[in-house]
Amino acid sequence: MTQLSFKINGTKKEVDCDPETPLLWVLREHLNLVGTKYGCGIAQCGACTVHLDGNAIRSCQMPVSAIGDSEVTTIEGLSEKGDHAVQKAWLAHDVPQCGYCQAGQIMSAAALLKNNPAPSDEEIESAMNGNLCRCGTYLRIKAAIKTASQTV
Ligand code: FES
Ligand code: FES
Repeated sequence: MTQLSFKINGTKKEVDCDPETPLLWVLREHLNLVGTKYGCGIAQCGACTVHLDGNAIRSCQMPVSAIGDSEVTTIEGLSEKGDHAVQKAWLAHDVPQCGYCQAGQIMSAAALLKNNPAPSDEEIESAMNGNLCRCGTYLRIKAAIKTASQTV
């Protein structure tokens, strides 16, 4: 076990764990930030997507020791009141079905719009194609990203 500290959702946190522990486990088991979901554990589904310095990453494949001075943002820290443009668009389009994949979808969409505020259809599809949804909400996700792109 090693004492590690890193910045998450604007606050410095300390955790005592094996440095190779994936960030996803630290979020869920050590910090009780359970909005980020475990899907596949092998970077294939996108359920565990969080931001590292504003970029979307798969937290199931990121050793917590690799975070260093970078800042992690989870769905809990995306906005103070759940009112990020992507979250508002998600509500307007009634995107989720079971909801399991949705935190990861929202984090990928928010990172996309931060880096490219007016993405084309192809750019949306490319940015989002690593986020799987068993319920098939893809058309509503795409529509919501287009709506959000008009307000970010
Ligand atoms: S749980 Fe990380 S990509 Fe599936
Ligand atoms: S809303 Fe059910 S898996 Fe995507």
